[in-house]
Amino acid sequence: MLDLSNITKVFYPGTVNEKMALDNVNLHVNKGDVICIVGSNGSGKSTLFNLISGTYPVTNGKIIFDGTDITASPEYKRAMTIGRIFQDPTKGTAANMSIEDNMITAESKGMKGLRISLNNEKREHFRSLLQFIGLQDRLKDNVGLLSGGQRQALTLLMTVMSRPKMLLLDEHTAALDPRNAQIVMDLTEHFIAEYKLTALMVTHNMQFAINFGNRLIMMDEGTIILDVSGEEKSKLTVEELVRLFKNLRNKTYANDEALLTKE
Ligand SMILES: Nc1ncnc2c1ncn2[C@@H]1O[C@H](COP(=O)(O)OP(=O)(O)O)[C@@H](O)[C@H]1O
Ligand SMILES: [Mg+2]
Repeated sequence: MLDLSNITKVFYPGTVNEKMALDNVNLHVNKGDVICIVGSNGSGKSTLFNLISGTYPVTNGKIIFDGTDITASPEYKRAMTIGRIFQDPTKGTAANMSIEDNMITAESKGMKGLRISLNNEKREHFRSLLQFIGLQDRLKDNVGLLSGGQRQALTLLMTVMSRPKMLLLDEHTAALDPRNAQIVMDLTEHFIAEYKLTALMVTHNMQFAINFGNRLIMMDEGTIILDVSGEEKSKLTVEELVRLFKNLRNKTYANDEALLTKE
């Protein structure tokens, strides 16, 4: 489904601020994979998403999506098939538009640009979808009136309505209180299963990363240092994960002269 080959991203190359955010990353994502991504701050998780969605060009490497080379394809084109949700609940919806107008925009995107109009039949359909997130009676309310949790739930619903093949979730519950975070996570699980989506999800919650999805990836300093799936993943504990992280880091440092000489 998604193949990243030898992906490198260097910010400000050739300057004193030069920063290698991703260092020769290779990742093969199978259709239906639900992958949790963990790793310390600055390890390159968001950069990985920025390169997959085309926000930034790669410095080196190739991105194949569904058999097509999309390395040079613009962000707006990739957005037709790759849905992305950010930590900030205000990012995925238009505050000064009603819920129904936001939804019609999302559905039009799913119809690949075909114009659809808002009639009573459509409103009924939206109402039934909104029932999932408890907003069925608020079609005409402006999105700006919603709480962060409601807004993130709506963003999730709208993203799914736009019929992506892949979801990129970048700590999308981190800004919510624990109760709303759980609601949005349950919805995420529900939509991924219902629409058989392939998903990559960045999370800081290690326990969550162990429980959710079929595969877990750990990043550090711009590289993937751990990639476990299936039974191996579900048997993990948080302590084991932390231990693995320490071991892998030491191993990487001990074996990699380039890293040692950097210090
Ligand atoms: N737009 C940018 N310009 C310059 N440096 C960036 C940019 N985005 C990310 N970086 C740098 O790349 C590294 C990886 O960042 P990021 O991918 O955001 O990490 P994570 O999401 O894992 O916390 C960091 O050192 C960060 O400062
Ligand atoms: Mg990030």
